[in-house]
Amino acid sequence: MSETAHIKSPYNVKNPFIAHLKHSRVLTGAGAAKDTRHYEIDLTGSGMEFLPGDSLAVQPTNDPALVDAVIKALGLTGDETVPNPKGGETTLRQALIETYSITEFDGKLIKAVAEKAGNTELAALTTPERKEALKSYLWGRDVLDVLQENVGTKLTATEFVAVLRKLNIRLYSISSSLKACPEQVHLTVATVKYESHGRMRGGVCSTFLADRVEATTSLPTFIKSGAGFRLPEPTDETPIIMCGPGTGIAPFRSFLQERKATGAKGKAWLFFGEINKATCFFYEEEFAAYLADGTLTKLDTAFSRDQVEKLYVQHKMLENGQELFDWLEAGAIFYVCGDASRMATDVDGALHAIVAKYGNKSPEEVAAYMENLKTSKRYRKDVY
Ligand SMILES: Cc1cc2nc3c(=O)[nH]c(=O)nc-3n(C[C@H](O)[C@H](O)[C@H](O)COP(=O)(O)OP(=O)(O)OC[C@H]3O[C@@H](n4cnc5c(N)ncnc54)[C@H](O)[C@@H]3O)c2cc1C
Ligand SMILES: NC(=O)c1ccc[n+]([C@@H]2O[C@H](COP(=O)([O-])OP(=O)(O)OC[C@H]3O[C@@H](n4cnc5c(N)ncnc54)[C@H](OP(=O)(O)O)[C@@H]3O)[C@@H](O)[C@H]2O)c1
Repeated sequence: MSETAHIKSPYNVKNPFIAHLKHSRVLTGAGAAKDTRHYEIDLTGSGMEFLPGDSLAVQPTNDPALVDAVIKALGLTGDETVPNPKGGETTLRQALIETYSITEFDGKLIKAVAEKAGNTELAALTTPERKEALKSYLWGRDVLDVLQENVGTKLTATEFVAVLRKLNIRLYSISSSLKACPEQVHLTVATVKYESHGRMRGGVCSTFLADRVEATTSLPTFIKSGAGFRLPEPTDETPIIMCGPGTGIAPFRSFLQERKATGAKGKAWLFFGEINKATCFFYEEEFAAYLADGTLTKLDTAFSRDQVEKLYVQHKMLENGQELFDWLEAGAIFYVCGDASRMATDVDGALHAIVAKYGNKSPEEVAAYMENLKTSKRYRKDVY
């Protein structure tokens, strides 16, 4: 497969393929501190194609219970007519379910609510010098919070939707290979649920998939190419190192399915991390089978909460530093997928430390080595 291979697709945000959920299962065991699920989506008849490393865009809908609470807080019925951004008109309720975000919003909504409610303190948050204060006010709040904190806001349905943002698609790294699982696409998704301001909240798309999608529900989808996150050709003996804690495992399940289907030649090493081995060792049997049949050469796991001290994937990399450096010296490609905020930075730090120690290099030489890994496309990231 060429480095930047991508497949032209007839589907996009304006013309998504309406797929349907075929199967889903909870990957996390009973008592787990998180809820991560495996989804299998039927693509039959779509002609939709993708490559390992691509993502699936999913257009979610909002939780109808939250939509109803917003309509109630506005003192409206939901049957009011509003312009449909796709053309024509629709009801307020339908627009809030399908088209507008009621969880992410900005100063436009704040300004409109503050003006109607005569809330000068809230209005002051929208001035350019109060940007940080606005950001901290927005954190953990949704549209319902703003309306409930400003009782009696008399916005018409049309005025209200005019200050909302559009409900956007969410991307998910594909966790299957078309060669192994034709006419379907698999996802590995962590359900986002948290409490804020005394109320339970759900991430729009992850709870849409977990709680609101049934076999008959329309799932608008399209492929987002991951041209920078590709496998070497199956005949290429380049070793690959995959670092995918949590849902970061998704593209690597796709890689391994593809490599088995194509009889790929090079060695493959997987680092996986999650909170507990007993409840969160996603796809454990599949990886055991890949180890047994040689698709996977080496598997290292880090279960962070199974001991007093945190154990993360980068600790397993450092433990295996000499061997990892030897693989890099043999031309291995290092892939990392998952949390961008902390994990990817710490994994990068571990790579630097390994190159310094086992390559016996100065900080400048390490920087040059890492730069070379990047420019030769042997250090690839899919982080979010
Ligand atoms: C290329 C790419 C690939 C991805 N692949 C995957 C994947 O394979 N699997 C996967 O699970 N995800 C993946 N993601 C992330 C995914 O796209 C979504 O961002 C994720 O599912 C959350 O979306 P949501 O609609 O459920 O939540 P949203 O409705 O977007 O809510 C998330 C937001 O809620 C707020 N929030 C969350 N927790 C708290 C809290 N405790 N307190 C206050 N506010 C909070 C934050 O503002 C956060 O941004 C990927 C992202 C990208 C860009
Ligand atoms: N708000 C929510 O409810 C929610 C739910 C799911 C995911 N998310 C977010 O979605 C992203 C992906 O989540 P995910 O479910 O795939 O898993 P994740 O949160 O990335 O966790 C996967 C594993 O990585 C560990 N980890 C934490 N910090 C790390 C670090 N600095 N270096 C290496 N490993 C580290 C975690 O350990 P510990 O957790 O034990 O530290 C856990 O064992 C994250 O940004 C996460 O914050 C949010």
